Amino acid sequence: MKILVVGSGGREHALAWKLAQSERVQTVFVAPGNGGTELDARLVTVDLHEPQALADFVAAENIALTLVGPEVPLAAGIVNLFRSRGLKIFGPTREAAQLESSKDFAKSFMQRHGIPTAKYETFSDAAAAHAYIDANGAPIVIKADGLAAGKGVVVAMTLAEAHSAVDHMLADNAFGDAGARIVIEEFLAGEEASFIVMCDGKNVLALATSQDHKRLKDHDQGPNTGGMGAYSPAAIVTPSMHARVMREIINPTIQGMARDGIPFTGFLYAGLMIDAEGNPRTLEFNCRMGDPETQPIMARLKSDFATVLEHACNGTLDTVELEWDRRTAVGVVMAAAGYPDSPRKGDVIDGIPPEVPECVTFHAGTRVVGGTLQASGGRVLCVVGLGDSVKMAQKRAYETVEKIHFNGAQYRRDIGWRGIK
Ligand code: AMP
Ligand code: GLY
Repeated sequence: MKILVVGSGGREHALAWKLAQSERVQTVFVAPGNGGTELDARLVTVDLHEPQALADFVAAENIALTLVGPEVPLAAGIVNLFRSRGLKIFGPTREAAQLESSKDFAKSFMQRHGIPTAKYETFSDAAAAHAYIDANGAPIVIKADGLAAGKGVVVAMTLAEAHSAVDHMLADNAFGDAGARIVIEEFLAGEEASFIVMCDGKNVLALATSQDHKRLKDHDQGPNTGGMGAYSPAAIVTPSMHARVMREIINPTIQGMARDGIPFTGFLYAGLMIDAEGNPRTLEFNCRMGDPETQPIMARLKSDFATVLEHACNGTLDTVELEWDRRTAVGVVMAAAGYPDSPRKGDVIDGIPPEVPECVTFHAGTRVVGGTLQASGGRVLCVVGLGDSVKMAQKRAYETVEKIHFNGAQYRRDIGWRGIK
């Protein structure tokens, strides 16, 4: 069969890489892809962006199923469009994608269905928002309602920061329509974990757990980023924690969406905060896989992913049992100079070693220009090492990172530290 992966990041490179390993797959197309998908002889990169053009391509090429990586086309209704044309696609509809595309939708959904999350209120009036902050004190968290490419959350440690975040979003209109409404919520302390499942509308299949590293610098210092690295599995999600998250968060979410008349299909990603007493709460939902979490997760998946996806599209995920590599995978992101505020483009990348069973390099912001590989975005590469311990996996990943060169490369040296401590 032929499969199409939509997107251009490290996540999509990893998904396509895994799908191409299936003996049942004839061709994996990636649109629009990146330098890595272009250089990978097992993948075919196509320069298409718009949902309508993608649907035409899928129909013309007789592609069996489409997998969507990023949230933007999902929130724009690519799944609705494909289904209306009878094309198989794995992802949530525009309506179901509101779990990610509207924080207010997600919060009121969680409140209505008794899913543990931070206490909150939604505002479009600045004066009311300021008064709520004064009444509740800091630390407090301000979130733009809509999609803001990972920049719409301010964890304010002081009242002054909280008030200025409100002014930035509501008065200065920093995020346009996405920030015309804001959610203000209680600050939660604890350790974060990424809990991702696949859902076919009724059956739920959990993927391996993982943990992201949001801050730019070692020891979780510096500005927030899209994610500087991830590892899998996350030790904090013990078997009993896993059962509890399924019971208290994932199952009620899938059942609640069905009951509300918006059945959820696709990847559901619950960003968890687990407090010191071991209580998990949902910080946010994403309606897609995580980036960079996908890279270590796909490196550990042993099952035939194309077959899993077929079951996911056909509503038969209950017949699937996933098999995982028992080793730990550590994925280290190499970012461009100036990331996250103003990543520099055009730096020439060299030294990427060929893939070996213990280490693979996924591309994100790269492109091939006149035969040379160049940085073209903030997160450039994600190097994934596998090992019997977090330390061994780290060692493998960093050995490769040190062989790769581009000017101004930034990376953390401590990815996986919570798994070692
Ligand atoms: P997001 O961009 O939505 O992934 O959120 C960015 C980060 O903000 C999360 O990964 C958390 O580290 C932090 N965060 C979001 N909500 C809260 C909260 N209620 N309490 C503490 N930290 C939070
Ligand atoms: N790694 C966080 C995200 O994908 O949203």
